[in-house]
Amino acid sequence: MTLVIENVWPRAAAWAGGELSLGGIGVGALAAEFGTPAYILDEDDFRARCLAWQDALPDGEIHYGGKAFLAPAVVGWLDELGLSLDVCTGGELAVAIAGGMPPGRVVFHGNNKSLAELNRAVSWGIGCVVLDSFTELSRLAAVAAELGVRQRVMIRVTPGVDADTHAAWATGGEDSKFGFSLAAGHAAEAVRQVLAESSLELIGLHSHIGSQIFDLHSFEAAATRMAAFLAELERAHRVTIPKLDLGGGLGIAYLPGDPAPPSPADLAAVLRSAVPDGVRLAVEPGRSIVGPTTVALYEVGTVKGGFVSVDGGMSDNPRPAMYGANYTAVLASRTSETPARTVTVVGKHCESGDILVRDLPLPGDLRAGDLLAVPCSGAYQRSLAGNYNHVPRPPVIAVRDGSATIVVRRETEEDLLRLYPR
Ligand code: LLP
Repeated sequence: MTLVIENVWPRAAAWAGGELSLGGIGVGALAAEFGTPAYILDEDDFRARCLAWQDALPDGEIHYGGKAFLAPAVVGWLDELGLSLDVCTGGELAVAIAGGMPPGRVVFHGNNKSLAELNRAVSWGIGCVVLDSFTELSRLAAVAAELGVRQRVMIRVTPGVDADTHAAWATGGEDSKFGFSLAAGHAAEAVRQVLAESSLELIGLHSHIGSQIFDLHSFEAAATRMAAFLAELERAHRVTIPKLDLGGGLGIAYLPGDPAPPSPADLAAVLRSAVPDGVRLAVEPGRSIVGPTTVALYEVGTVKGGFVSVDGGMSDNPRPAMYGANYTAVLASRTSETPARTVTVVGKHCESGDILVRDLPLPGDLRAGDLLAVPCSGAYQRSLAGNYNHVPRPPVIAVRDGSATIVVRRETEEDLLRLYPR
């Protein structure tokens, strides 16, 4: 059997010596050293995807959407490459700080930032807070005034664009919990209030219409509305609002047969043509940077009828159960000439919904000890992972040029037990 390294595999994936190799290291060696399940991240691929965004918007700003996957090492790569970082909770902010991100390059999102979170962000010198409600607007104005800071802010606008994606990931419509409605006039009122607060400085408008979007028309519609709104505000208030941050959301292919998504350059061209020259553009890609860089490695434990059980499951990848997300998997640790049969790859959790890949052709001689590799596992998997059934979360290992580095270590039962008073 030869593995065709198709669109869904990271750049440095290859079929070598009868097994899948990632970043120049065979999956057998990776599993032996780090155990399974494990998330293997191709660092060069991550960096190349960051560069592709920078090349696409050379005079814009690329804020990596940290919610897709964040760790101090990742923060270090972003810093080195000159990207900015979008965080949306105090926890993500703590990782940004731990990773040594310059405060000025961090943008703080979220629809319910606490007073403590705002205090910490402003005291740290965060570059920008994206305001999401009137409550937060006055809360932040007070925090900044008390700390003697003129805090830079953007206003999150709900542009009324319904992107073609899963309902859970669509955020641009009028029914969204995020942002200030453009249509209802709330966004205009928020701008008026910010301009009246001496402790706040309005540096831009923000919108994010959703995630895993392939259709460039939705991005274009949002950009056009936002640009028109920005021009209207500048006229009405006789101010300059220098920046338009149009969020993340570019989709990726998860299955070999999926259509190729638009490239960062395709999206940038659409945004640039919808927004007048002179307005600085920012974007917040998460999934399109980290998603394709990472392969999840699992070991097969049992094969029973049509079920292949592996040593992870819905605790490390809840996406199939939460969203009906589809993945593929391949036998990665050896070749097999045995004809394929259709199986369902399931996890080790105590519910029938614990399915990783449904109805997948895999070699008929699949057996305990085999390694399965699931591509496109970098975004919203380790970051969404939980401890259902007290299963410790897997590590994330960065591979590059034949060497491997722990980015997140494996969680242990001791880590879990530490939560209980003794
Ligand atoms: N900016 C904002 C304000 C966001 O809310 C998000 C994602 C991003 C940027 C990054 O979007 P991306 O480029 O990664 O699409 N848990 C879901 C995805 C939720 C997306 C949340 N917001 C999933 O597993 O697919």
